[in-house]
Amino acid sequence: MLTRLPGLTDVHAHLRQPGATHKEDWESGTAAALAGGFTTVLAMPNTQPAIATGEALEAALDLAHGKARCDYGQYLGAGPNNAAELAGLAGCAAGLKLYLDQTYGDLKLDDMSLWMPHFAAWPKDAPLAAHAEGKTLAAALLMAALFERPLHLCHVSRREEILLIRKAKERGLPVTCEVCPHHLFLTEDDIPALGAGRSEVRPRLARRADRDALWANLDVIDCFATDHAPHTLQEKDGDNPPPGFPGLETALPLLLTAVHEGRLTPEDVVARLRDNPRRIFGLPEQPETFVEVDLEEEYEIRAADMQTRCGWTPFEGWRARGRVRRVTVRGALAYEDGEVLAAPGSGRDVRAKA
Ligand code: NCD
Ligand code: ZN
Ligand code: ZN
Ligand code: ZN
Repeated sequence: MLTRLPGLTDVHAHLRQPGATHKEDWESGTAAALAGGFTTVLAMPNTQPAIATGEALEAALDLAHGKARCDYGQYLGAGPNNAAELAGLAGCAAGLKLYLDQTYGDLKLDDMSLWMPHFAAWPKDAPLAAHAEGKTLAAALLMAALFERPLHLCHVSRREEILLIRKAKERGLPVTCEVCPHHLFLTEDDIPALGAGRSEVRPRLARRADRDALWANLDVIDCFATDHAPHTLQEKDGDNPPPGFPGLETALPLLLTAVHEGRLTPEDVVARLRDNPRRIFGLPEQPETFVEVDLEEEYEIRAADMQTRCGWTPFEGWRARGRVRRVTVRGALAYEDGEVLAAPGSGRDVRAKA
């Protein structure tokens, strides 16, 4: 028997085009999205070049328009000198992304004086998202409070972070956050088995106490996001392994496995993969769009069966209970049993004017 879920949204995916299409591109990344039950993905701006100008945004949206197989939005990346230019593009972007800690790409803003123009200029009703860990997260929260504006915190992974966000919410600050499946299901205990290169990810895999705190504070978590960050196996096993895990095709099966185990309800999952993402990011309805899953089907997670170009998964060999069988977008079958049917270019820009 198949259970019908609404079309899901991943608010945090790296699709690598332009610049690194050997890892992923708009076609393969949105194929992976559909195979994972996502009908909308919001693409991060740390491409090469980064999406940090109007020209780069236009080029990325042109690519997406021709290639995306599911609906999409494109983030802009905050740089040291582009706050005014980007503010004028807010209506065309998924949101503005601030990289406040070191990670993949060259968008990190070191000095807090470089954050401020963005907090000041970016429209308050447009999504502002930050990669900020530990005490940097505290500083970002303070700045959002000082500028009296909403802030979305990406891939929260540690106990001290989720507890601080709880406090901020209790104080009434308009802060929201996302947590990734890999921080809910993996810890530093998994590093030896994964290997040093493959386990590189930012934020790093954390302690068991951190993972347990995420589960214990589920009510503080607004969204589950994949942070789908594909790098090839050759790169991950090479000399200078880049941080990041693919996640689009494992997020929903892992979360449905947790539903089967009684750790989550289906409503918990849909709230964090659809309702809250749509509200926080102001996304349009997708009529006649749904995902059919077999909640009882058990299967082995294998990179060889996936659509992503990166060729590996940190969950290789895991048994999942709950499988994506069919995805329908605007009345048309987009995915069925391992086959992506949606054509490149059939996806829509979530910011397209009606
Ligand atoms: C991401 C990437 O590879 O683009 N890597 C990661 O480890 N999460 C960057 C990011 O999300 O910080
Ligand atoms: Zn990040
Ligand atoms: Zn990311
Ligand atoms: Zn059962």
